Amino acid sequence: MARSRGPVRRFLKWTAAVVAVLLAAGLGVSTWVYFAAYQTNAGDLAFENRVRIPPLLEPEVDGDGRKRFDLTLQQGRSEFLPGRQTDTWGVNGAYLGPTIRVSRGDKVAMDVRNELPDTTTVHWHGMRLPAKMDGGPHQTIGAGKTWSPYWTVDQPAASLWYHPHLHGETAKHVYRGVTGMLIVDDDTVPKDLPSEYGVDDIPLVVQDKKFTEDGRLDLDAPGPLGLQSTYGLLGDQILVNGTRDPYLEVGAERVRFRLLNGSNARSFNFGFADDRSFSLIGTDSGLLPKPVRMNRVRLSAGERAEIVADLTPGEEVVLRSFAPKEGGGFPQDRLAGADDEFDLVEIRAKDRLTEAKPLPERLADTPEITPGKDAVERDFELSGTSKINGDTMDMRRIDEVVPAGATEIWTVRNPGNPHSFHIHEVAFRVLDINGEPPPPAMRGRKDTVYLPPSATARLAVQFGPHTDPDTPYMFHCHMLEHEDQGMMGQFTIVEPGTEDQAPRRLPGGNGGGGGGDHDHH
Ligand code: C2O
Ligand code: CU
Repeated sequence: MARSRGPVRRFLKWTAAVVAVLLAAGLGVSTWVYFAAYQTNAGDLAFENRVRIPPLLEPEVDGDGRKRFDLTLQQGRSEFLPGRQTDTWGVNGAYLGPTIRVSRGDKVAMDVRNELPDTTTVHWHGMRLPAKMDGGPHQTIGAGKTWSPYWTVDQPAASLWYHPHLHGETAKHVYRGVTGMLIVDDDTVPKDLPSEYGVDDIPLVVQDKKFTEDGRLDLDAPGPLGLQSTYGLLGDQILVNGTRDPYLEVGAERVRFRLLNGSNARSFNFGFADDRSFSLIGTDSGLLPKPVRMNRVRLSAGERAEIVADLTPGEEVVLRSFAPKEGGGFPQDRLAGADDEFDLVEIRAKDRLTEAKPLPERLADTPEITPGKDAVERDFELSGTSKINGDTMDMRRIDEVVPAGATEIWTVRNPGNPHSFHIHEVAFRVLDINGEPPPPAMRGRKDTVYLPPSATARLAVQFGPHTDPDTPYMFHCHMLEHEDQGMMGQFTIVEPGTEDQAPRRLPGGNGGGGGGDHDHH
């Protein structure tokens, strides 16, 4: 008996051993992913460096009453890590650019001089303007050239930004540092909102970075598994306004922060380390009707939020990014950086603080964006890391032609990876996401929206008045590696009734509608 059961037992033993080894290996790999893919700087920071506040750029008023802003794109060196020099790009400086502040109704012009070794562009993210002035991939600025777009500001107060948009190179150019804030004011903003720049109205440009041993910015850094992540770059270091390990000293009881996620791919879930609540007062394209209390606000790449926080004399509190949680579970969330946590900046209140005015109950009375009954509907499916509706970006293909002034419903579907969907020129309102009303932080006017894995968002999109059938605007994923891989399409805005005559194909290899290097008339 025992003899005949021997081989069976041996077989079972072996099987058990093999299964055990496989299980252990599987567990080992998962455990390794679990730990290796987690990134945080918690505990590493001493909050030693006073955070840089980008200077406000003073315009010159020209003979036409136009405010002219001088922007020079240049190479430089920055010391982010103590004692190590990093080659960077910036605007009027080594890294990042000045803050441009304009008001509704202003006639403005930007003189953008490219002293970089490469062709690039500068796009005014969130700005309503003619397509030729937009600074998208068609408005290239060659090395040594100056580009001078001009327009009249006509949109509600909002925190916008500017950055390069050269097709295929956007990730690199933004990553090296060409980025700045662009603030729009209007005279309907309640006077009691904190608005003294750098005092109680503070821009915070938050970006993740990866450095090599010798201090270079490493865009090709492999992801958590030693592979290129499908999300694009996820860095393990944080810069706030180009400052690593930063603190911010404030002298006011009530402070407004203009938060910009200027990262290539990473999402941040902003909150305070002690979980205090704050008031959300604005999203990408404008102020909310009234403040909303919350203790987290999540921003994907390219999104902005304005929050107001209260401080007591002498206290210190850390602004932090809590795990954003994409809802993808393990291992997707882990690999997408959605479990990662970062300390961003320590806020130090002075011992004496200027007294706060009460926060206004009404912030803006901009009418809500509401599509009509017969609103045109368009569908967009973002697939993989490079396609919209099955196609990658083609500089000569016009995907959509929209009549000026329309409000349309754009349904954006996302069967896989998370994405960050942005439309140039417009403001939109998220009607619903997966059939549900959007969470409070997504209810305001926006131009960029986070799409979690396998989501469908319906957007009410309001288009502006500037027509040009030959020069397109872009819509794309704002995770910049996805954008560069082709997850981008083009639309034109035309005179209503002329949609059928409008070109669907642009001549030439480079797309036409350049608009580069022209003068200010
Ligand atoms: Cu922030 Cu198409 O860009
Ligand atoms: Cu994407």
